[in-house]
Amino acid sequence: NVDVKVKTLLAKMTLEEKIGQLNQYTGDNDATGPVSKNNNKLEQIKQGKVGSMLNVRGAKDTRQIQEAAMQSRLKIPLLFGQDVIHGYRVTFPVPLAEAASWDLGAIELSARIAAKEAAASGLHWTFAPMVDIARDPRWGRVMEGAGEDPYLGSLIAKARVHGFQGKSLGDLDAIMACAKHFAAYGAAIAGRDYNSVDMSDRLLWEVYLPPFKAAVDAGAATFMNSFNDLNGIPATGNSYLQRDILKGKWGFTGFVVSDWGSIGEMIAHGYVKDSYDAANAAITAGSDMDMESRAYIGNLQQLVKDGKVSVKLIDDAVSRILRKKFELGLFDDPYRFSNEEREKSVLNSAENKQAAKEVAEKSIVLLKNDKQLLPLSKNVKSIAVIGPLAKSKKDMKGFWSIDWAGADENDLVSLYDGIQHKLGNNTKLLYARGCAIQDSSRAGFDEAVKAAKDADVVIMAIGEAGDMSGEAKSRSNIHIPGVQEELVKAIQATGKPVVVLVMGGRPLIFNSTADNVPAILYTWWLGSEAGNAIADVLFGDYNPAGKLPISFPRSEGQIPVFYAQKSTGRPSVNDKDIIYKSAYLDLPNSPRFAFGYGLSYTTFKYSDLKLSKTKLKNTETLTATFTLTNTGKYAGEEVAQLYLHDVVASAVRPVKELKDFKKVMLKPGESVTISFVIGKDKLSFYNSKMVWTTEPGKFELMIGSASDDVRLKSDFELVD
Ligand code: IFM
Repeated sequence: NVDVKVKTLLAKMTLEEKIGQLNQYTGDNDATGPVSKNNNKLEQIKQGKVGSMLNVRGAKDTRQIQEAAMQSRLKIPLLFGQDVIHGYRVTFPVPLAEAASWDLGAIELSARIAAKEAAASGLHWTFAPMVDIARDPRWGRVMEGAGEDPYLGSLIAKARVHGFQGKSLGDLDAIMACAKHFAAYGAAIAGRDYNSVDMSDRLLWEVYLPPFKAAVDAGAATFMNSFNDLNGIPATGNSYLQRDILKGKWGFTGFVVSDWGSIGEMIAHGYVKDSYDAANAAITAGSDMDMESRAYIGNLQQLVKDGKVSVKLIDDAVSRILRKKFELGLFDDPYRFSNEEREKSVLNSAENKQAAKEVAEKSIVLLKNDKQLLPLSKNVKSIAVIGPLAKSKKDMKGFWSIDWAGADENDLVSLYDGIQHKLGNNTKLLYARGCAIQDSSRAGFDEAVKAAKDADVVIMAIGEAGDMSGEAKSRSNIHIPGVQEELVKAIQATGKPVVVLVMGGRPLIFNSTADNVPAILYTWWLGSEAGNAIADVLFGDYNPAGKLPISFPRSEGQIPVFYAQKSTGRPSVNDKDIIYKSAYLDLPNSPRFAFGYGLSYTTFKYSDLKLSKTKLKNTETLTATFTLTNTGKYAGEEVAQLYLHDVVASAVRPVKELKDFKKVMLKPGESVTISFVIGKDKLSFYNSKMVWTTEPGKFELMIGSASDDVRLKSDFELVD
């Protein structure tokens, strides 16, 4: 068994070889952090001083570097890791977009395909999923997560871990998942990347930790810690997080990798004075592998000699890493993932592209559709496709996608191309860029207005460039950049019907467009198949069903705005009720578009809510049943959402919390009966003493189409 194998190997290792296993270097192709010079990596690998490499990919390159590891005394294979965040060769929608599908099967499939491609390309490990809850769209990394809600975020964390790791680690199509960034990185103050985090234990446990716990329960092989300090203690040197919670209370048996350089960065935090102390703090706190700080390789031996770090502590970290190498089958064959033939047949297959298109369709959110302007007829004579993102391919991939030589031109589908594929020569397509994404020139407006005047319908693509959200991409102004909204106004002034597609990695602000344009689709960054997926939605071959996984603010001044606000002592009941109320003088409290919101080409009626009982004990469950009917003209999917509110509790509760949802497809006129089962798991909370428990009392139950669109309501009481 693996434990015996690990012990036997450990017994043969020198201290230096053990420390080598804890050391991870970057390869030379992709830099995903500040690169330090180190030209003798291959030599160090041969000497057994490196346990893992990141940013080395491809069957050929991984094999070549693994060959160096096979020249080391004990021939311990390297682990190859890479940020496979939303697809590998075929790019899927950015994770926040996928979360808008509320389709756990689709999200798992996306990770599954990414894993199959990555594993066929020599990789053993992805630094994903990012399960950080994010409620601040100024933070660029909001695009990498599942949005603002711990319940939805936990289910998505589980789906992604299952997708990456497949049936079992050791299968040739499975790679290790890495839940990151542990912990609370998503709450960086003011949405500024790498910034401090200060939060109550309540917020940590109620909102930020649940998706990490879900990742552990789903079997995530690894965790990555985070750059931030949490209440003054850097996460990388935080024993409470890594030892007490993760490896203690939650019993995590995998290993923790630091974020890039985060061990060394504890010096800049002012938490330790030098690399020696940094290594001591990190290993003591439970960081097992050092990504690119070079603090372990440089100091651990001395720390052991000085009696500051015990060999037992090092053995524990090494054993965790070796266990994964055994589970992946690397000791049986260190090259088993590096097979060029398999790589050729698996990567970029038609099947993978088809899946990317389907997931992209599911990720699109219909924000507005006045007078049913959408879907458009395929018989329209002429369309003007306008905007700086209309012909872009590169931006469709979004941040954290992998660059492949020649791939941008050959296999990324722009909006323009997608429309052309769909309509062929029946429709005349006019095109004008109109303006750039970011600068203030209106020089292209006239040409764009002319194109609009010459067409029957206008489709506009505006938003962010593919590198404007992501790591180190925080922005204080999240309005649609440049003069793009001015362009929309100029085009609308022609009187032509206008559909606007908003593309980006985060919630953007676009009030004038939202107020005035009749049809708006939020199309995020949808990946390789973006244009084809959008064309399916525009022309009715796919009825959009996405729901926002994060609230969209009206103004940066509202941030953080999220639906699960706590009940205040002076609640404002509507937008006019502001005097001596918890409200703004100049803005409503509500977001521009709420969590859970998204329209369909059809309409749904919610009716006949029945509760199986109105009083229950905490050992019992109750079932809420209702009827959902498609009352419109199109077949379509609806995500019916269940929210609960604990009315009186020993700690103030949010006004509503998502507790369940069901996504169902209905034909026009069709009805279905939907049931939600409610028991202790959905009624528990951290009480005033931070104990996870239930308290008797009244609960409000709300079922609806969005967090701000409750259609059915009832109460029940927990009696003990
Ligand atoms: O995985 C990433 C992490 O999310 C941010 N810093 C760099 C790591 C490796 O690329």
